[in-house]
Amino acid sequence: MNRCIVAPSILSANFNKLEEEIKTVEAAGAEWLHFDVMDGHFVPNISFGIPVLKSIAHTHGMINDVHIMISDPLKYAEEFIKSGAQFLTFHYEACSSEKEINQIIDLIHSLGGKAGLSIKPNTDVKVLDKFVDKLDLILIMSVEPGFGGQSFIPSALDKIKYLRELIDYRHFNCLIEVDGGINAETGELCKAAGADILVAGSYLFGQLDIKKRIEDLQK
Ligand code: DX5
Ligand code: ZN
Repeated sequence: MNRCIVAPSILSANFNKLEEEIKTVEAAGAEWLHFDVMDGHFVPNISFGIPVLKSIAHTHGMINDVHIMISDPLKYAEEFIKSGAQFLTFHYEACSSEKEINQIIDLIHSLGGKAGLSIKPNTDVKVLDKFVDKLDLILIMSVEPGFGGQSFIPSALDKIKYLRELIDYRHFNCLIEVDGGINAETGELCKAAGADILVAGSYLFGQLDIKKRIEDLQK
């Protein structure tokens, strides 16, 4: 089984000491930092947006992995890239057409970003077939988007396996990221299914053995 990248989700961080929390996960070996942007419309929660990304993006050496759970991603994509998003992942369910999805991917690429597309637990993975060749990342939600600390939804594993086979067979360069309810057990299952990147929030932040937890998820 290959090594996984770990992307701590700052949604679970203590925002009263965010700089310290970011330094802690970076020192513990995290290579990516996951930003969960929520608008209270596409998902029933509001988290943070451009000002927070702007103030953090260039203060660490990890990859800024921005997950926008927002309506009308086409309208905001440019601002997120210009604010420091290196990977910008938007939701299939927030788009009204294949044309719009392709427009956003092309826009992200034109600005030098890496494009990711995410699907919710109840969305069929096959809707992604027509985009995989031009995507840099696919984000499989293993919880209903909107909150940290939820339980892993096992049906995500079949989607990972399906994408692993498709990407390997067609020699695409698309990474598979999994997000939601990741811990030692579910992380192992996702790696075995073929995931490249594991997002973890509540399993990491505030934990005394965070370095060991990250190392165990990576190997
Ligand atoms: C949920 C977010 C996830 C979440 C992960 O909508 O996209 O990134 O913060 O948190 P845990 O790892 O606690 O499920
Ligand atoms: Zn996320």
